[in-house]
Amino acid sequence: MITGTGSCAPSSSAGNVFFERLVDTTDEWITARTGIKNRHIISGETLSELATAAARRALESAGTEAAELDLIICATMQGDYIIPSMGCVVQREIGATCPAFDLNAACAGFLFALDVADGLISSGKYNKILIVCSDQLSKFIDYSDRSTCVLFGDGAGAAVVERGDSLRYIRICSKGDADLLSINSARPKSPFFVEGKSQGYLAMSGQDVFKFAVSAVVGSIKEACAAMGITPDDIDYFLLHQANGRIIDMAKSQLGQPCEKFLTNLAEYGNTSAASIPLLLDEQRRKGTFKRGDMLAISGFGGGLCWGTCLLKWAG
Ligand code: UT7
Repeated sequence: MITGTGSCAPSSSAGNVFFERLVDTTDEWITARTGIKNRHIISGETLSELATAAARRALESAGTEAAELDLIICATMQGDYIIPSMGCVVQREIGATCPAFDLNAACAGFLFALDVADGLISSGKYNKILIVCSDQLSKFIDYSDRSTCVLFGDGAGAAVVERGDSLRYIRICSKGDADLLSINSARPKSPFFVEGKSQGYLAMSGQDVFKFAVSAVVGSIKEACAAMGITPDDIDYFLLHQANGRIIDMAKSQLGQPCEKFLTNLAEYGNTSAASIPLLLDEQRRKGTFKRGDMLAISGFGGGLCWGTCLLKWAG
């Protein structure tokens, strides 16, 4: 069960008007087609600092000391270093002594980390695991490409996971595909490789990813409900990866659910990749949205392609 959450966003932010000066776009287009109004982007601080702050806040909200942790799993596409992993950086900064590693499931990172954590706790091997999800998409954005540069922000979210029965269902899925959504790794100069045209920028076939996202979210939530013998009506809140307000709207209508069950913070943060779900979860926990026993459906999707859904009874 999740016993604590934390998050941290960069202090600098850029509203839609900023992008009007950068590329051929308008606030109206971005708002209408995505629901995004603002995004927080790293300028002064580092991703490790955000991840560490989110981790500390999660530990504090769980009432847990770093020394009590059995494992740290960081979901990230890339931290400040290739080596050490973001997990090891966070471990050092919070003063933990447990093993730590990174996994990369792009925007679905929280679900993948939660499934791994749940498996290791259920097996009896570990009792307390810290999940930290942090991404700095601003490192990989071509700020002359209007179709992608307006979408993403940076951030970090974290959760402490402990033994308990509140995680009722979790399933993660992958379908290898580098055509719809990819970031080619930029390589340092060397005498041995011929430079290709990609220099580490995010490339996305927006409409195809949109269709994949709607069908992955709706399909996996229906599958989760069927497996638990419930219907979407029995879910109190849906927390979907914050990529596009229209994806959330289509999920709402295809699941036949009212607006107020779908929590969002997309307007303020844009798409923060792996951080998006734990950032939303933490904000809503701090607002006191959830009451004990509420059923949450959490669903993530993104590059890989990777996606997953869990059903969680809020333990409070
Ligand atoms: O977290 C990873 C998962 N990612 C996602 O889930 C993203 C999924 N995809 C999307 O959210 C949407 O497909 C986008 C927001 C990326 C694009 O929205 P769209 O409604 O699918 O637009 P489109 O790609 O079909 O483009 C429609 C038009 C094009 O112009 P033409 O060819 O019709 O003249 C684009 O060039 O909108 C144009 N366009 C823009 N116009 C103004 C694309 N980006 C912009 C922009 N400002 N920023």
